[in-house]
Amino acid sequence: MANGQEPVIIQGGMGVGVSAWHLARAVAMTGQLGVVSGTGVDIVLARRLQLGDPGGHLRRAMAEFPIPDMAARVLDRYFVDGGKAADTPFKGCALPKADCPVERLELLVMSNFVEVTLAKEGHDGIVGINYLEKIQLPTLPSLFGAMLAGVDYVVMGAGIPRAIPGILDQLAQGEAVELPLVVQDAARTDRYVTRFDPVAFTDDRVPWLARPKFLAIIASATLATVLARKASGHVDGFVIEGPTAGGHNAPPRGALKLNERGEPIYGERDAVDLEAIKALGRPFWLAGSYGTPQRVVEALDRGATGIQVGTAFAFCRQSELTDDIRQAAIQKSIRGEIDVRTDPVASPTGFPFKVLELTDTLSDKDVYESRRRVCDIGYLRHAYKRRDGSLGWRCGAEPVDAYLAKGGKPAETRGRKCVCNALMANIGIGQYRSGEGCEKTLVTSGDEARHIHKFLPSTGGTSYSAEDVVAQLLSAVETGVAITP
Ligand SMILES: Cc1cc2nc3c(=O)[nH]c(=O)nc-3n(C[C@H](O)[C@H](O)[C@H](O)COP(=O)(O)O)c2cc1C
Repeated sequence: MANGQEPVIIQGGMGVGVSAWHLARAVAMTGQLGVVSGTGVDIVLARRLQLGDPGGHLRRAMAEFPIPDMAARVLDRYFVDGGKAADTPFKGCALPKADCPVERLELLVMSNFVEVTLAKEGHDGIVGINYLEKIQLPTLPSLFGAMLAGVDYVVMGAGIPRAIPGILDQLAQGEAVELPLVVQDAARTDRYVTRFDPVAFTDDRVPWLARPKFLAIIASATLATVLARKASGHVDGFVIEGPTAGGHNAPPRGALKLNERGEPIYGERDAVDLEAIKALGRPFWLAGSYGTPQRVVEALDRGATGIQVGTAFAFCRQSELTDDIRQAAIQKSIRGEIDVRTDPVASPTGFPFKVLELTDTLSDKDVYESRRRVCDIGYLRHAYKRRDGSLGWRCGAEPVDAYLAKGGKPAETRGRKCVCNALMANIGIGQYRSGEGCEKTLVTSGDEARHIHKFLPSTGGTSYSAEDVVAQLLSAVETGVAITP
């Protein structure tokens, strides 16, 4: 830990389920910050219980849940002893809505509790959880579940998470909370919110909760300044993420221009003013191609507390990406054949999304075009105001007719990919559809995937561990000598 207080390395949160408890726990045990992804973990828990929970880890964590009858209800709904058959589809979950049914709330709270509990098990290192501001409906019960398990940090990007710091303060006091919803086509005076009341939810059995630190992931000093001054509570630090990072990227400032590969062009205006960030007087970490020993030294020299790294951890043994995906990426990295593309339209969030080109994935035009459009997870649906003032939900990757019937524009459906279903497939829990087979994958990674083979042990072997990544990244800090990667 730097200064005995903050970690030098943050292992970035990676959804859906890529940075789950195995990875975050391994990193936390090295003394750095391990971060579980909180995105979609309700579906992940429901599906892993239907696979029989091999090893019994999920049920072990659920047994720790402070309200045992709630844990019993979740088990009753989803657990399949011995696991479901491979050609039986997973049971569906109701799509997220502003007034979430109680079953879904219970699954959200439980799944966030389980991830953090397992990541913190058996050591006293620090564990964080990552959410996307853009995905609003699950946020309140998810935060509560993570706090019930004693999460140390909440790390949040993909939007302006102004309301979250105050919500953490309120949840720590056992108060009811509300989150204003971003609603397309709404008037400035309209106010839509989602609410969560921990006392009502737990039948007044809510224990005392510690307030985790809150880190905002941002790509501009202006945004950091707005958050530092105007957020609803204290922002404890910033992760400053550049456009080569894996996952979603902030769009370039100004009018969108594309290069010959159809990728957004970033320029000087997108460089973050680190002096302005330093002036805010909060710890900050740099992200986006900082996964080498030299870059760690460089970040520290520039006044950062440390770095956040995702890609190097995404392909290590403790990541939940399937073995096939991890091995394909490592082999491509060895051969110098990694191709990462920033797709401006693939993600229904509207943010540019980094895609690692691999065969038989949705990044392949034929595979994409042959998939029947289905929207049955619904995490990336946007809220919109219907003519009668009520809330509707639509996703640019849902069946086109349904999207247009909800007032969406045809251009918003072009090239949109069902990221929800594909990301589940990436971690081996893709939906099986009778007559169509299993959902295809779509893998995200940062440009740094080119270098992941450098984490392979010098003694040989085709895989590396989270501990290998941490040791290599810190090697130059500890010795003062930068290693040539
Ligand atoms: C597979 C993958 C999934 C990611 N998912 C998320 C996510 O759900 N939320 C988020 O804030 N960042 C996400 N990221 C970004 C990482 O947390 C991290 O900031 C980024 O990877 C750092 O840059 P690097 O890719 O050069 O290491 C993801 C990155 C990868 C590689």
